[in-house]
This record gives sequence, C-alpha cells and structure tokens, in this order.
Amino acid sequence: MNSLLLHESEAGVRMLTVHDLPDLREIIRHWKRQGNSIALVPTMGNLHGAHLSLLARAREIADRTVVSIFVNPIQFGKGEDYERYPSTLAEDSRKLSANGLDLLFAPDLTQLYPGGLDVDTRITVPELSDILCGRFRPGHFSGVATVVSKLFVNVEPDVALFGEKDYQQLLVIERMVKDLCIPVRVMGMPIVREADGLAMSSRNAYLSREERALAPVIYRTLQDAAGRLLRGEDNFPRVESDGMWALQQAGLRPEYFSVRRSADLGAPRPDDRRLSVLTAAWLGKARLIDNVQVERSASSG
Ligand code: PAF
Repeated sequence: MNSLLLHESEAGVRMLTVHDLPDLREIIRHWKRQGNSIALVPTMGNLHGAHLSLLARAREIADRTVVSIFVNPIQFGKGEDYERYPSTLAEDSRKLSANGLDLLFAPDLTQLYPGGLDVDTRITVPELSDILCGRFRPGHFSGVATVVSKLFVNVEPDVALFGEKDYQQLLVIERMVKDLCIPVRVMGMPIVREADGLAMSSRNAYLSREERALAPVIYRTLQDAAGRLLRGEDNFPRVESDGMWALQQAGLRPEYFSVRRSADLGAPRPDDRRLSVLTAAWLGKARLIDNVQVERSASSG
C-alpha cells in the first residue's frame, strides 16, 4: 500500500486516503478479514454539516467508515455546474480526519471511468428517474445510479448513508439495490438545516448575500404546504400551484413544486398517509432542492 497517504487526525486517529481502486480493495479486504462492518458515505466533496452528520451516524453503526469524494461528470447535464463544482479536497480531508473517518476514497476520472466518459454500460432505474428532477435533468439519475453502483461494488459496504434532501436520489438508489440484489442497507438520514431553515447544500455557496437572505422561503413554502396537507387538504394541484406562486412571488424560478406519495413518488390519493412535498427552484445561479415529509393520521381532515 505504498501509495497511501496517512494523516494524523486532530483526534489522534489515523485516516487513510486512497486514490486508486487496487489500494481501496486491499484495505477493504483487510478489514473484512478482520470481521469489520463497513459504512460508506458517498459525496461529491465540498463538505458541510450535513455530510459530517452522515459520517457521525456511520461511525455509530459500523466498525469502519469510508467517505468517497468524486464529482461524477456523467450525472451533470450540458451547461450544468460540473466545471465550476467546488473542489476543496484539502479542506474536506482535514474535516473528515478531525471527525474520525477511517478511509477517504478520492479517485480521479480514470479510476471510475477507465474507458472514458462515453460509457455504454449504465444503470438506469426507469420511471422514478424520469419525474420531478429527472424531467429537468435527463440522464441525471442514471449517472448517479451508475457511479453509486461502482462504489458499492468496490467498497462492499454493509450500509450506505444518504441525505434525505436528495429524496428522489435516495429512492432511486433503494430501488437499484433492490432490483440488482446488492447486499447493502441503504439508510436515508434527515435533512440538516441552517438556523433559518435553509437545507444545507454545497450549492448554497453559489448564492449572493441577497439571495442567501431570500433562500429560506423555500422551506417556509414547503412547511405551509405540509401544514395544509396535515389539516386534511386533498386538493393537491391547488397546494402545488400555490407553492409555485409563492416561490415565484419571492423572486425564485421554481421548476416544480409537487405533492407525491412518499413511498414511490407516485401521484397521491386523498387516503394516502405518507406524503412528500418536493421542490426544485433556481435562485440566481443556484438550483436548490428541498422537501418535507408529511405523515397524515386517519383523522387528518
Ligand atoms: O448526492 C451526491 O452527492 C451525489 O449524487 C452522489 C450520491 C455522491 C453520487 O455522485
């Protein structure tokens, strides 16, 4: 393992950093031989509090923790922010080491796409990938599913943790794991918010000061919609169009504001109990997504 970089973390625990698949596989094999369970947190870097909360949970439930940092080109569409996606590896590495991570996997393109980016082999989870964000970002979820499956094959985690801010992504990955019989437990973790309610996201860094002050309207609008659903409103199209209107009035450019069944993001019926309200909206150069989960009791309404 001569290519390994060893870091002494502030907590005095050594974090390994590997960039190549053979090194990664060797360490994983070693840990498995020792009977360790492994938790994986896949990320694209530029880490914030929500990523660190995934790592904290991962450390509670597994013997060894792996975080991957890889900005995956095939999940970005033409004209999206792949080129300008913030790369902060040194700072990320410091944070992860200080938070007790065991292994940082930070591959370059040639490791995960040895045949180049025009990969023919892709994982596609139909239907779920074509709605909501998938309508506006064609190919996005296939890119996500493809790279996550590569990570699962090579890290062989017992459990993988994902934030519920990307709720549709979470469902796509759960469905992929089920359909491909991949032996990994996928865990969704609650959204971590700033004090004013804005969901933590790497893309919040694109906001100007004025835009950042406006951004909490997204969560407020979702909460308003959730309140109406909890009070028994089942005119879902009206809740959706009011949400779109509120975001537009605030100066955002919403792509969708949608009420769906939480289980499969299908169109809800009035007697559905578990609902999600999901939105994607542009604010300046930032495309922000957020959602709230609603659990209606039989007596709602
Ligand atoms: O949520 C993300 O950061 C990315 O979509 C993921 C899961 C790391 C795949 O590139």
